Amino acid sequence: MPTPDLATTYLGLELANPVVVGANPLTGNLDGIRDCAAAGAGAIVLKSLFEEEIRSEAEGVDRALGLESDWHPEVYDYLRAGLGMRCAPRQYLDMIAAARRETDIPIIASINCVSPDIWPEFAAETAAAGASALELNIALFPDDVHEDAARLEQRLLAIVAAAAKAVAIPVAVKLAPHFSALPNLVLRLRQAGAKGCVLFNRLYRPTIHPETLKVIGGDRFSNPAESALAIRWIAVLADRIDLDFAAATGFHDGNQAVRAILAGARAVQTVSALHREGLGQISAIQTEIRAWMSRKGFASLADFRGLVSQARHPESPLFTRLQYMRRLDGA
Ligand SMILES: Cc1cc2nc3c(=O)[nH]c(=O)nc-3n(C[C@H](O)[C@H](O)[C@H](O)COP(=O)(O)O)c2cc1C
Repeated sequence: MPTPDLATTYLGLELANPVVVGANPLTGNLDGIRDCAAAGAGAIVLKSLFEEEIRSEAEGVDRALGLESDWHPEVYDYLRAGLGMRCAPRQYLDMIAAARRETDIPIIASINCVSPDIWPEFAAETAAAGASALELNIALFPDDVHEDAARLEQRLLAIVAAAAKAVAIPVAVKLAPHFSALPNLVLRLRQAGAKGCVLFNRLYRPTIHPETLKVIGGDRFSNPAESALAIRWIAVLADRIDLDFAAATGFHDGNQAVRAILAGARAVQTVSALHREGLGQISAIQTEIRAWMSRKGFASLADFRGLVSQARHPESPLFTRLQYMRRLDGA
């Protein structure tokens, strides 16, 4: 049998393999991006630029220039661009342009946003700089007891719609798992213009130190058991909603990657495994997927993508079952 082919498409982009390096500090500088590409990544998601960084640049520049009220508009634009050159957003655009020149895999820009304002203009600049797609890292903490779920989701959808309107490149939305009606929200992401959905982000996990009584950060890195959540939801949603799904959180090796693709994922994002095992894990995952495909007789990912999704097995309640039941067959 010929060597199994790992090529996939994600967000309409051609990827040589489905192993995508998720957003993290390794992808926040050019050296790290080069290293991930050289290690065989199918695509790279850049470390997120935060809306606050874009906002503070825009406000800071306007404040600096605002001291002089009668700038000629062209002079104002020139000075504004020059001041912006020194700021994080400008460095981010330069990094995209350099990564585009130096690598031949898709570079996905990432913006962490909490409102539909200011950053869509910047999102368009990421596309102009050479980003192949945009991933929106949207995490809205529901700390207002008066804001109901519908309003919160509306805020999220307004962000997605603003991004989809601002850029011609495909937009993916990276969600946290905390939504009560996830399928309906994901459907509405599609209607708002998203082309893909990353399930799931792993949010910062503060906890309390019992000795110092201080709030401290929890585990930064995932473990493989955490992959079950994304596998379940991709199995439930892929084939039902016309979006490209990428699996994320807990995907440390080929074993979990295969399960994600069987559920319907087009790509698998990995971060913790690279911090724990090194960048060699990018090709190790591919080797493991290929070995499994050879053993099972699959020549391409399309041969088994979604094979175990809920839509293809409507009679099976396993992915939608919530409670453990005592069963004779022990499942
Ligand atoms: C140190 C660190 C920094 C991260 N920074 C970002 C970020 O800038 N944007 C983002 O969307 N996700 C960020 N993430 C989340 C990862 O992209 C990923 O979704 C998460 O770690 C779960 O995947 P994993 O189980 O493979 O680690 C970060 C994760 C870590 C550990």
